[in-house]
Amino acid sequence: MQKLTKWVRPTYLPCIPLGDNRSSITACDAHIQLSRQAATEGAVLLKNEHHTLPLEKGTKVAIFGKGQIAYINCGGGSGTVNPPYVRNIYEGFKMKKDKLDVFDALSLYYEEYVEEQYKEGVSRKDMVEAPLPKELLERAKAYADTAIIVISRYSEENVDRRNDGTDTYFYLSDMEQNMVQTVTENFANVIVLLNVGAMIDTSWFAYNKAIASAIMIGQGGMEGGLAAEDLITGDANPSGKLVDTCAQSFDDYPSSEGFHESDDYVKYTEDIFVGYRYFETIPGKKERVVYPFGYGLSYTTFTYSNMTAHCTSETIVVSVTVTNTGNRAGKEVVQVYYSAPEGKLTKPSRELCGFAKTKELAPGESETIWVSFSTADMASFDDMGVIEKSCFVLEKGIYRFYVGCNVREAILLEDIFELPENVITERLHSYAAPEKLDKRLRADGTYEELPCGTVERASFPCTYKCAEKPEQTYMLLDVANGKVDLDTFIAQLTDDELVHLVGGQPRSGVSDTCGMGALPRLGIPAVMTEDGPAGVRICLDRCVRTTAFPVATCIAQSWNLELMEVIGRAGALEAKENNLSIWLTPALNIHRSPLCGRNFEYFSEDPFVSGKMAAAKVKGIQSQNIVATVKHFACNNKETNRHRSDSIVSERALREIYLKGFEICVKEAKPQMIMTAYNLLNGIYTSENAELLMGILRNEWGYQGMITTDWANLANHSAEVMAGNDIRMPEGTSWLLRQSLEEKKLTREELCACVKRILEMILWLD
Ligand code: BGC
Repeated sequence: MQKLTKWVRPTYLPCIPLGDNRSSITACDAHIQLSRQAATEGAVLLKNEHHTLPLEKGTKVAIFGKGQIAYINCGGGSGTVNPPYVRNIYEGFKMKKDKLDVFDALSLYYEEYVEEQYKEGVSRKDMVEAPLPKELLERAKAYADTAIIVISRYSEENVDRRNDGTDTYFYLSDMEQNMVQTVTENFANVIVLLNVGAMIDTSWFAYNKAIASAIMIGQGGMEGGLAAEDLITGDANPSGKLVDTCAQSFDDYPSSEGFHESDDYVKYTEDIFVGYRYFETIPGKKERVVYPFGYGLSYTTFTYSNMTAHCTSETIVVSVTVTNTGNRAGKEVVQVYYSAPEGKLTKPSRELCGFAKTKELAPGESETIWVSFSTADMASFDDMGVIEKSCFVLEKGIYRFYVGCNVREAILLEDIFELPENVITERLHSYAAPEKLDKRLRADGTYEELPCGTVERASFPCTYKCAEKPEQTYMLLDVANGKVDLDTFIAQLTDDELVHLVGGQPRSGVSDTCGMGALPRLGIPAVMTEDGPAGVRICLDRCVRTTAFPVATCIAQSWNLELMEVIGRAGALEAKENNLSIWLTPALNIHRSPLCGRNFEYFSEDPFVSGKMAAAKVKGIQSQNIVATVKHFACNNKETNRHRSDSIVSERALREIYLKGFEICVKEAKPQMIMTAYNLLNGIYTSENAELLMGILRNEWGYQGMITTDWANLANHSAEVMAGNDIRMPEGTSWLLRQSLEEKKLTREELCACVKRILEMILWLD
């Protein structure tokens, strides 16, 4: 086929398939297989007493729970995907009839129930568990010796789940509890499948002897049902590991206390002690953990040997040999944690600093894994100046390393890294500091008092210099072809045209999230956006069905960066085939509370896993010249009143937890686009927050790409331009910008700086 010239796709929206022999790549078999593989790799085997799983061929099973039919492949809102089909759990079982014998009558009962609910207009979100008819239970009991219970959870953006009389999201509902009790009383072998976006209560099966096995199958995309069956039959061996801590109760999570305190703000008083950093460190909290971060079983066993840490002042290289000591092939995730000395700055007792997944190891086979990281990665941010203000510091003392299969069981290495004196690894600035955070948690469980009061904010004068307007008219293609430089091209734009370009443009083609660019006079194409993360979201009425991959948490549970990269690439190709240029993924907020409506879209409670996963995805996406959009920058960890809620966070927690994943991703994968969040950060909308965008993101991290708002936020467009938030989506507030220009509150230079970054993004596209 003739090579496409630049911007043919966004300009003419041709129907050019990208697969072999002119076949379509969108939801093609290979991508669907990839989705299935990711769902098996992302599932976590949490419990497996007496090797109940995998089930032997011919086992008779009865499946309980509406979730086997109303399977949740992903959550809702912009994070949803519309695939050609979703294979639910029951269908997955039916496809493997040669392996397991399912008691169909029970599943058909649930099928009918779910259909009835849909007919009555009940959504998956509000659907309660079905009652269990006694007669059916008796028949199931007579037929099957093994029971499988499916528990599902659904959530979506703009609303958090609750844990009160109206919603028992974290815990089993009364109906679910009744079902579990009835099933456990009637079956000797009980297996649980958790079809959930992120953490929910696990203590009900972990401590229940009547439940032998449990798999967190996550929200596994369009082939999730079949992937679950792959695991249950042993066609696949689980190799996923938790990316969140499973605690005994909702109240055990440190964020719970203040989660519903106010709709207007969230005080992040637990500070850096998020997830396992809290549970492993704070006295008395270890015991509250049901399954620790990083935990996950396999059908085989592994041993770790020859563990060493080679330390220089710059780098730590940990090596370990992993051997499959069981009798099935399997993969293991090697996790490396460090502990920094408790000094003037309080520290978590363990922090993840590296991981690697082995290849599939045959029984008896070994692999030596090397994980390296920089000593500077172990530094802490000193926001109060106890050593040196606004610096990352490696405090003097002994740094220890732990290697193993989860945060709790990781083995302490003999090799240490010792510093006789404090070392400043980076001198930064005090940016985005809180004015209203009065206290924060320390490692000993006490609270440190913090000063409150007005903080002086830095300003970042615009350095853009307008070029001379050329005599002849140049098109954007002339910039692409090197005939003219971008600044001279920009000099031709009228003020109105600049204003036009810093706002979103109407949608075209199959997009429903609008576009950017669109200035035919100068040949600027309109490039369209579309949502993610679990696949390319194209609205149902556009009649294009895309691959639904597992949700972000589920893929993160695979701890397989290559897999994430391949999925990023596959999704980007689906976007490209549909003439879409900008994929609004990955989403990189932190699982701070089990109730956040968007947890399924985010990776983990840990910024390192999140950052690495996001970087892998961005690399995959951008390898196809599709723009990746890393969102929501930052601290959008709660959905209630998300347009007005103020996230009140210390600078240290920002630097070490909430910005860390973004930093890793920006530095490692150079995303073309970052999306700011709806919320305020320490009193200022993130999109108007110059310290965040110019100070930290552009100046300190060297970010070169462009920045978009989230869609229809409540911030002020003029203030956004001044803060370096380049575009307002899905449309700009042109009248306000013109007024600000007239009143000389906003300069042409400031608009040009934003437009330049938008055009650089468009020029990067093919
Ligand atoms: C979400 C974004 C999404 C955008 C466009 C917003 O509501 O927060 O994540 O990309 O809509 O659909």
